[in-house]
Amino acid sequence: MELKTSRSLVFGVNGEKFELSYVDPSTTLLQFLRTHTNVKSVKLGCGEGGCGACVVLISKYDPVHDRVEDFTASSCLTLLCSIHGCSITTSEGIGNSKDGFHPIHERIAGFHATQCGFCTPGMCVSLYGTLVNAEKTNRPEPPSGFSKVKASEAEMAIAGNLCRCTGYRPIADACKSFAADVDIEDLGFNSFWRKGESKDLKLSRLPQYDKNHSNVRFPLFLKEINPFVSLASEEHYWYSPTSLKELQTLFALNQANEARIKLVVSNTGIGYYKDDEGYDMYIDLRGVSELSIIRKDQTGIEIGAAVTISKAIEELKEDSRSDFHSDYTMILEKIADHMNKIASGFVRNTASVGGNLVMAQKHHFPSDIATILLAVDSMVHIMTGTQFEWLTLKEFLERPPLRFDSVLLGIKVPSLEVSESEEPRSRFLLETYRASPRPLGNALPYLNAAFLAKVSPCKDSVGTVIDTCRLSFGAYGTKHAMRAKNVEEFLAGKLLSASILYDAVNLITATVVPKDNTSHAAYRSSLAAGFIFQFFNSLIDRSRITNGYLNGHANLSSVKDFGLAENQKQVHYDKTPALLSSGKQVLEEGTECQPIGEPVIKSGAALQASGEAVFVDDIPSPKNCLHGTYIYSSKPLARVKSIKLSPELQLNGVRDIISSKDIPDGGQNSGSKIVFGQEPLFAEEIARCVGDRLAFVVADTQKLADMAANSAIVDYSLENLEPPILTVEDAVKRSSIFQVSPFLLPTQVSDVSKGMAKADHKILSSELKLGSQYYFYMETQTALAVPDEDNCIVVYTSSQSPESVHSNVARCLGIPQNNVRVITRRVGGGFGGKFVRSIACATSCALAAHKLRRPVRMYLNRKTDMIMAGGRHPMKITYSVGFKNDGKITALNLEILVNAGIYLDVSPIIPRNMIGALKKYDWGALSFDIKLCRTNHPSRAAMRAPGDVQGTYIAEAIIEKVATTLAMDVDSVRSINLHTYTSLKEFYGGSCGEPHEYTMPLIWSKLNDFADYEVRVEMVKEFNRINTWKKRGISKVPVMYEVTQRPTPGKVSIFSDGSVVAEVGGIELGQGLWTKVKQMVAFALGAVQCDGIDGLLDKVRVIQSDTVSLIQGGITAGSTTSESSCAAARLSCDILVERLKPLKEKLQKEMGSVNWETLILQAYAQSVNLSASSFYVPNSISSRYINYGAAVSEVEIDLVTGETRCLRTDIIYDCGQSLNPAVDLGQIEGSFIQGLGFFMLEEYETNLDGLVLVDGTWNYKIPTLDTVPQKFNVQILNSEHYQQRVLSSKASGEPPLLLAVSVHCATRAAAKEAKKQLLSWTNLDGPDSTFQLEVPATMPVLKELCGLDIVQTYLKWKMATK
Ligand SMILES: Cc1cc2nc3c(=O)[nH]c(=O)nc-3n(C[C@H](O)[C@H](O)[C@H](O)COP(=O)(O)OP(=O)(O)OC[C@H]3O[C@@H](n4cnc5c(N)ncnc54)[C@H](O)[C@@H]3O)c2cc1C
Ligand code: FES
Ligand code: FES
Repeated sequence: MELKTSRSLVFGVNGEKFELSYVDPSTTLLQFLRTHTNVKSVKLGCGEGGCGACVVLISKYDPVHDRVEDFTASSCLTLLCSIHGCSITTSEGIGNSKDGFHPIHERIAGFHATQCGFCTPGMCVSLYGTLVNAEKTNRPEPPSGFSKVKASEAEMAIAGNLCRCTGYRPIADACKSFAADVDIEDLGFNSFWRKGESKDLKLSRLPQYDKNHSNVRFPLFLKEINPFVSLASEEHYWYSPTSLKELQTLFALNQANEARIKLVVSNTGIGYYKDDEGYDMYIDLRGVSELSIIRKDQTGIEIGAAVTISKAIEELKEDSRSDFHSDYTMILEKIADHMNKIASGFVRNTASVGGNLVMAQKHHFPSDIATILLAVDSMVHIMTGTQFEWLTLKEFLERPPLRFDSVLLGIKVPSLEVSESEEPRSRFLLETYRASPRPLGNALPYLNAAFLAKVSPCKDSVGTVIDTCRLSFGAYGTKHAMRAKNVEEFLAGKLLSASILYDAVNLITATVVPKDNTSHAAYRSSLAAGFIFQFFNSLIDRSRITNGYLNGHANLSSVKDFGLAENQKQVHYDKTPALLSSGKQVLEEGTECQPIGEPVIKSGAALQASGEAVFVDDIPSPKNCLHGTYIYSSKPLARVKSIKLSPELQLNGVRDIISSKDIPDGGQNSGSKIVFGQEPLFAEEIARCVGDRLAFVVADTQKLADMAANSAIVDYSLENLEPPILTVEDAVKRSSIFQVSPFLLPTQVSDVSKGMAKADHKILSSELKLGSQYYFYMETQTALAVPDEDNCIVVYTSSQSPESVHSNVARCLGIPQNNVRVITRRVGGGFGGKFVRSIACATSCALAAHKLRRPVRMYLNRKTDMIMAGGRHPMKITYSVGFKNDGKITALNLEILVNAGIYLDVSPIIPRNMIGALKKYDWGALSFDIKLCRTNHPSRAAMRAPGDVQGTYIAEAIIEKVATTLAMDVDSVRSINLHTYTSLKEFYGGSCGEPHEYTMPLIWSKLNDFADYEVRVEMVKEFNRINTWKKRGISKVPVMYEVTQRPTPGKVSIFSDGSVVAEVGGIELGQGLWTKVKQMVAFALGAVQCDGIDGLLDKVRVIQSDTVSLIQGGITAGSTTSESSCAAARLSCDILVERLKPLKEKLQKEMGSVNWETLILQAYAQSVNLSASSFYVPNSISSRYINYGAAVSEVEIDLVTGETRCLRTDIIYDCGQSLNPAVDLGQIEGSFIQGLGFFMLEEYETNLDGLVLVDGTWNYKIPTLDTVPQKFNVQILNSEHYQQRVLSSKASGEPPLLLAVSVHCATRAAAKEAKKQLLSWTNLDGPDSTFQLEVPATMPVLKELCGLDIVQTYLKWKMATK
């Protein structure tokens, strides 16, 4: 068949033309960009559309309207063949270091909005797409320097992008700075302006935005090509039919040869159904005009199946439909509003409405679109072969899965049938619902629902009659969306009352029942009851309906009676949080040691934004490079008999399977060897945990290696093996306990039995449990090993400890250490996860490279990374506490069973860290027994604030329990148990320093004012008194965190032109280490005191870590590596200054004055050694110290859904004399948000064998912009000078993570109010407030606490009180 299409694929990337005559149609745009172009900014973070790291702007010419359409898309899902005729713009395309950065890059840098920088290019392109499209609107021209974008849109631009480092606030500020409607005073701390400057001046200091600024224009050659392409090879076909006729012909032709056909629109479905591969022919449906129509007439609106969700939203919202009935217009708008919460902007821009419905029909995808369209009686148009038919959506969903030659052509939302004779006062109401872990940040719902009702006022009495209603539910663990017919029939014709609603709610709970094995089944059913209640209850409470909108209007009458300020009248039935986050940052710049103490912009921030910053996987592959990945165990304890791959893969580019058998003579099977112990690289015969490394499969491409590992068949045997140890209890029973050297253990305080004897009350053997957390670094584990001459090897690794990688590679290969060189430039987020695991990853590549004599690289896919990572230590805590009547605690005893997994890793640090953070209160006497249990789980590793975060949580849980037992205010119990300096010294010994270093009392009292705490406590009480369905809690929490400095090397060299390079042991993980070192070098070399040293900062470059150039680099962890690296750099500078000073003085005498460049030239001429190395070893007094901080958080819970919103957080954190307050601010905010993820969101589910079930962005939910505090205020306390610290500075990397416990405590306080109210409805005595709130306090957890049957209980109470 001759298709009227082009025979070669033509497209542009940042203006450069590409023309390809053959492409494997399963190739994604991301794969092409990363392997066939120089583009680095398009990062692979998840490969499933869930993170935004790979976002690009696609521009497409529309010849009919002679205009270019621009939209963002995830390149990891977009098929390369589908971009024929398009221009692709990446972050380095919109600006770069060579042609000039774009103002987006400059503002991102200036607002201090990057840390590791891995997410940043994707963020920039997401914003860029929004700006480009805002400029196309007919809004008034904005003032110069601004875009037409609104602040809310600018912020929403990044709502679906993940960042694990920054906490989003500074990124959101950078985005909002482009909006003409932003109040510039609301923007956060930045490097552009100073406090107190006028608005005009501030504005003028921003890098000016010009809508025409872009290095890339839509290339003309793309306007001239045939917009459709068909490609063919012996193996694969890609067709772009332009009509249904062509499509039918294609089906007919291929029916005979049984080709596997894939119909494709935008291919986003592959993000969810990843195994959906291996097709012979791809048919792109987007060119078929019938599938792209949008038709509107009196009968309704018809949307072609290939229309994107974004386009559908636009059309449904279009307000020029005066010919439609007003109720129908309202319905279309509501559908559009709901669609706006699906996925993220960059997915909606390409994902089609039809693709979504077919996924629901064929694969039972938990679709939102199916649910909402079902409630409005939508119709679908189908073509099967040559047959056409219209079906109701219900019939469509209930049919067997569509055949390969069945095509969904379009969907019709019929207009409302309003007959002339009908009661004129009757109205249609539509409401849609969606409960999901992140309301706007790309999360599938636990349940969605849509209710359409025709209601009218009762003729005979006051009240509302339900004439008819359609109630649809979906995504709750059911095959597809369904209508609750029984409830619809029950309600039809009824006058609404509490008792009718009560019956309806009970009926729906029995109807919406998830199928077996659905998670949170009871919660999902209870949501159905809650939504029904929300919809109909407002009709009972009020007899009038405003414009058909129920949102935000219910219950308002109850507010009127109270003299509350406007901001308290937040009854919120609105379900979409307005984003517009805001924050205040209070920080002081240090002036004594400039540029130390200045908020200098992060080194390389603009490069990170443009995407030019090079991460390991951005290093071009050397010639003949192979790619590897792991085959891991799926059994917790089993003998591995064999591993087999499918034969066709072996033929097609799979090169080897490396295992313990490949360890060379003289080498060791070593995955890592650190101070605490060693673990094997590969399991030998027996696999000891799920995720244990069995082998490393090496292939021509990463995709092939992943496919091979995925399809590997491992033959296991359990013969003669004990059952695995999967619980800590079992480990204790079977004496499977790791021994820890006594010098690593924390010390007990005083005598607990005496303390208990002093107590008026005792709580005995109370239990707590804590789960794990996954790092979710945006860059997964990665390495590249390149064999070199003479049995040497160079390894590039993303590691927190290149030194450990170095020694382990040599150990494994059996070669001397001087044959190995390990290079780490930057790490795309580590958080502890890139210490021990990175060693094994790099060693695996090195072993394969050594054996095959070819370069081997690996970029672990997200799923494998998650399954093997191990993560934070779960634990079980049993405690007994004694306390006085006034809340003073006299003794605490703890028994803690830590699940350490199979190998020791760094677990021995956990007891000390835990107790270090727990000792923040004066417990009177403290004893503990902490056991590190060896189980058949992946080894638990250090994760940011390892042990400390658990310790702080345990302390707060105990304080809360004491307060509850005494019926005291929790705050008073906290305050009464805060340390005095004397008790502090007793608990912490030497770490606590001098009395003036104990800044907690100062922070504690300052925080009251900063957070307006006392007033807000009262406001929260009042809010709770008048609101039934929302409850708030507020909590103020202190944290203390001990850190230890470690020895670190440094080296500083000065070139003949006066430029300087510094090397330090510390690795740049995003924490700003390079920036602080740069500042330190400029400061320390400044001591030479010659002219021109003011500009030294710009002359300093900190370079990648190279284990051959600088040995003994150690590990970057524990929050103190920045300061010790600074100290090491300073020592080197001191040596150089010492060498330069005599020369400077001599020259000064001769010349009057001498500038830096002259001095250095002369030093070269006189053979002064201008390179100096040093090794900083902290002295024993200063090496360990305590960090202090406190936070107030206020949280609101929705009692119907269990959803929480952190309304506001205020933090005061003591950074000592901050080395760089902008960097420290970023660390504080970012680590707090990571803590918030641990306490509130990140459910780390495993199966009984310990296999992690949360294996990607679909089910592991780190915070997004919509889940961070709406108001986030941070004050950095520049406390006094501490002679023993590095220029009086303190750490900021991990301790602030603990402050997030305040969100959990506030949530618990709100839940307590909810429980109290629930009990008041049931007339039971006294509040049941002894409950523990689990970690993480997810929506299902909270709903369960607030009462799964809360609406039933309420209605019963209402009926009874009536
Ligand atoms: C990160 C992410 C988050 C998401 N979140 C949500 C969410 O919260 N709620 C929600 O409802 N959805 C969500 N989705 C699903 C999303 O809406 C669908 O992936 C998308 O609409 C599918 O459209 P597509 O054009 O990409 O389809 P494709 O991926 O091209 O196709 C999907 C499937 O449908 C078939 N197909 C497509 N069109 C037709 C047709 N016209 N006739 C016959 N078969 C066809 C294809 O063969 C394929 O099997 C999410 C998706 C992603 C990637
Ligand atoms: S890599 Fe594409 S969205 Fe994550
Ligand atoms: S800066 Fe965003 S992920 Fe690191």
